[in-house]
Amino acid sequence: FTMKANKKVDFLIIGSGIAGLSFALKAAELGKVLIVTKSNEDESNTKYAQGGVAAVVDKSDSFDKHIADTEVAGDGLCHREIVENVVREAPERIKELIEYGTNFDKVDADHYDLAREGGHSNHRILHYKDITGYEIERALLEKVHEHPNIEILTHCFAIDLITQHHQGVHVDKSSEDIRCFGIYALNTKTAAVEIFLSKVTLMASGGAGHVYASTTNPTIATGDGIAMVYRAKGKIRNMEFMQFHPTSLYNPKDSPAFLISEAVRGFGGILRRVSGEAFMEEYDERGSLAPRDIVARAIDNEMKKSGIDFVYLDITHRNKADILAHFPNIYEKCLSIGLDMTKDFIPVTPAAHYLCGGILVDEVGRTSINNLYACGECSSTGLHGANRLASNSLLEAVVYAHRIFEDAKAIFPSIPFASDIPNWDESKVKLLNEEILVTHNLRETQKLMSDYVGIVRSDFRLDRAMRRLGFLYEETEEFYRNTKLSVKLCELRNVIQVAYLIVKSATQRKESRGLHFTTDYPEKSVTPIDTIV
Ligand code: FAD
Ligand code: SIN
Repeated sequence: FTMKANKKVDFLIIGSGIAGLSFALKAAELGKVLIVTKSNEDESNTKYAQGGVAAVVDKSDSFDKHIADTEVAGDGLCHREIVENVVREAPERIKELIEYGTNFDKVDADHYDLAREGGHSNHRILHYKDITGYEIERALLEKVHEHPNIEILTHCFAIDLITQHHQGVHVDKSSEDIRCFGIYALNTKTAAVEIFLSKVTLMASGGAGHVYASTTNPTIATGDGIAMVYRAKGKIRNMEFMQFHPTSLYNPKDSPAFLISEAVRGFGGILRRVSGEAFMEEYDERGSLAPRDIVARAIDNEMKKSGIDFVYLDITHRNKADILAHFPNIYEKCLSIGLDMTKDFIPVTPAAHYLCGGILVDEVGRTSINNLYACGECSSTGLHGANRLASNSLLEAVVYAHRIFEDAKAIFPSIPFASDIPNWDESKVKLLNEEILVTHNLRETQKLMSDYVGIVRSDFRLDRAMRRLGFLYEETEEFYRNTKLSVKLCELRNVIQVAYLIVKSATQRKESRGLHFTTDYPEKSVTPIDTIV
């Protein structure tokens, strides 16, 4: 049976974080925009961003320095022309965020209070206290609400991209003519699967921290967009580079883990062993402000040596009033578990934080599937290389939202809507009454990824992970074919698919570079190459 589309729009956006909202505000000047988002409208990685946005706005800084810092952190795998584009376009896009109503802290009327983070040679991070993401999300949503051309559907879960495959046309994976017509989505309020057709679709579905047992990401970060594009035979790049943030708060009761911003180290914070000695200088001359991959590996090593699940972060030497002014949110959180960060060391441990790889896009955000763009954390632009420089992520999203808008402007009027889209067939499925089958497989996937595919890897562990994942995949796919859809089940399926892409990419990389460290190939190869699946 073919079904009438529930909605037809010029621009369909999956996700309401910084990437989706920034593009929506621009696209709405051209035509009708629909944003679907699976939770509340503000729930996103964006909302929890703490440190801020990197950009050259101070006279003491330069584009060349920001470019060099990004490339050094990226460990030889950044695409130079992409780094240049993003860094050079940053000030313009920051200006736009401010025009949309975002507040950034200032030292006086003319100067921003610029913070510093690991890998940055200058103070260059614009921030709003330690809740920068919350402030950006607030400002963007307010603007979006004012726009008559933008509709947001919340609690609406994108299941799959619609392509020719759904019309019964076989398209090969190597074909350059795979076309995206829109999505199937689960309206969780009515439990119905709906069809949304579009001229242009933007994947802005964010990260995948929940592929791991411990992550700083909110529960929405299950890699859905990457799994959807992979299932639609699109290209995915550099998935082995999952960034572990060195300093999440060690508090086993918290899930997700609470982040202790890198800006705390930028403010003078020192990493110490449980015995009290500072240790980072033994690993890198940049000490506690070395790039993230290096700091996370050093902490992992210290934890393995001591057998203790955390190290300490010490900021007690800074003035209390300054700490409170810069980190009110972190201070409150620590206090809620009985720690006064102005007097006590903070116990910290690494946690999965940011996916540097993702959906392969070109310099204007086009994916390998026609009429489908990707923006933000779900995409792989070439900016981050093998390890993202802190605070370059929010920046990448706003720069690409603009680039995609400029490109889509020219092509969208001539793209036709598709017809003959088949109805979602649920005639043979049974109701799911055993949630435990889903939660168990999710926990098992997360645990095996943390134990076997974490900060330090080996062929043996990757092999094991792949075998276990194969079994979980078969079991979950069978369950999916026979069971009434639920968000949890779809997310499990996506998590397993993203885990598979991470392990497959990690297995392909026979060297150690950036965030991918393997004891079997500890050296860096001479020629840097991307991993494409
Ligand atoms: P998100 O903001 O995650 O938005 C994704 C959206 O897609 C959400 O609305 C989600 O609900 C929706 N979605 C996902 N799947 C589906 C689906 N199947 N159907 C419908 N909707 C879906 N970066 C920096 O540059 N600076 C920082 O200071 C910083 N701090 C951070 C602190 C924390 C704790 C975390 C977790 C991340 C931080 N990052 C930081 C990273 C940065 O926040 C993210 O990379 C960035 O916000 C991603 O934006 P996005 O729009 O791509 O995705
Ligand atoms: C942080 O505040 O430490 C997060 C910064 C980032 O992930 O870019």
